[in-house]
Amino acid sequence: MSDKKSANAMWGGRFSAGPDAIMEAINASIGYDQKMAKQDIDGSRAHAAMLAAQGIIEDSDASAIRKGLLTVLSEIEGGGFAFSTALEDIHMNVEARLTEIVGPAAGRLHTARSRNDQVATDFKLWVRGQMDAAIDGLTALMKVFVAQAEAGADMVMPGFTHLQVAQPVTWGHHMMAYVEMFARDRSRFEDARKRMNESPLGAAALAGTSFPIDRDMTAEALGFDRPSANSLDAVSDRDFALEFLTSCSICAIHISRIAEELVIWSSAQFRFVTISDRFSTGSSIMPQKKNPDAAELLRSKVGRINGSLIALLTIMKGLPLAYSKDMQEDKEQVFDAADSIMLSLAALTGMMADLRPNPEPLRTAAASGFSTATDLADFLVRALNMPFRDAHHVTGALVKMAEDQGCDLHELSLEQMQSVEAKIPNAVYEVLGVENSVASRVSYGGTAPAQVRAQITRWKAALL
Ligand code: ARG
Repeated sequence: MSDKKSANAMWGGRFSAGPDAIMEAINASIGYDQKMAKQDIDGSRAHAAMLAAQGIIEDSDASAIRKGLLTVLSEIEGGGFAFSTALEDIHMNVEARLTEIVGPAAGRLHTARSRNDQVATDFKLWVRGQMDAAIDGLTALMKVFVAQAEAGADMVMPGFTHLQVAQPVTWGHHMMAYVEMFARDRSRFEDARKRMNESPLGAAALAGTSFPIDRDMTAEALGFDRPSANSLDAVSDRDFALEFLTSCSICAIHISRIAEELVIWSSAQFRFVTISDRFSTGSSIMPQKKNPDAAELLRSKVGRINGSLIALLTIMKGLPLAYSKDMQEDKEQVFDAADSIMLSLAALTGMMADLRPNPEPLRTAAASGFSTATDLADFLVRALNMPFRDAHHVTGALVKMAEDQGCDLHELSLEQMQSVEAKIPNAVYEVLGVENSVASRVSYGGTAPAQVRAQITRWKAALL
């Protein structure tokens, strides 16, 4: 009648037969959630210690369990552990092995606990570790951008709008723009970390437990700020995973923007920068080629990261309280996004540390495309007390004249300029140079080297 042998050892009491192979395949998460072995064992060790402290299990059982769990961990970390799909997930694989090691005492570990609060705890611990790693990775990345900015604080380059040369800026200013972006990314991870740091352990299946547990004790042992206040929420909340993915997505978007700039800047047409050989590849057919593959991959990683975010948002939408198995699908998305963001941060840090900006092409491009036309209009406002709209009009006429003659603004003679506006003085030539242009942009946050240096100083102190 009953086939207890193949029925699951954990809940075999209620079942008369083992699962269909396809059922096992769709149900099992051990293929990926084994990544959380350390967190699972940390959580179980804290739980066992608490059960003993509260007199719920014997001290001798708790210490056998805690010691046995360390043995399981070293087997897993040593690579010799035989994971079983029949045991579904990391929680049951660990517990089954623990039972082999310590015997019946292992059966007391799951008192006052469910896999629902267990998985929420494990996953939170894992995600929290990744948030910390992202924070460190972003700090290292910001330092490299600040170093680039400092080395090129006076280096003139074109500033673009619509990817058309707009006004001259400095390399330092451009690099520091990314420092601001990555600083916001870092604060998003920090912020999410603070919000998520509540312990689900002890919420049990969904309703709490009748055992006299001490949730503060396990929360503290696992580095949480406090236990979560509602057991239904504790087991069904995946906001922390969504916030992690959102933070990864926005960060990956920033990475894709500098990556795109590196692809453009390193091209033969631009020659703004040289990417080191260490971060370039060759072509199997065209011997002359040096390709920015790393930058292209950095540009593309955002695709899968955004995909993971959308996947988990969609999984969570409309789920009734409390736990549903749908939530098991959270892990692969988060694991993949975490791998992608960590690799991206490391690769971009390495590339940027090696990157060489090329001052000559940068300066030539900065001076092209009538990039100091705004300086000319501003000059007319100041020198002739002209309304800006009129100055804009006069400057437009001068740009057209230069364009017709195939020359730059500073190559127009004073007579030519005065044929458009008779009162233009000779001092006009001072504002047409790119160095003067950038030096004049002294407003707070502007591109003047003095302003950029002030920001570099501020960030260097903050990043110590
Ligand atoms: N492997 C499951 C997950 O990742 C663990 C929780 C299972 N809980 C349950 N009631 N079946 O979500």
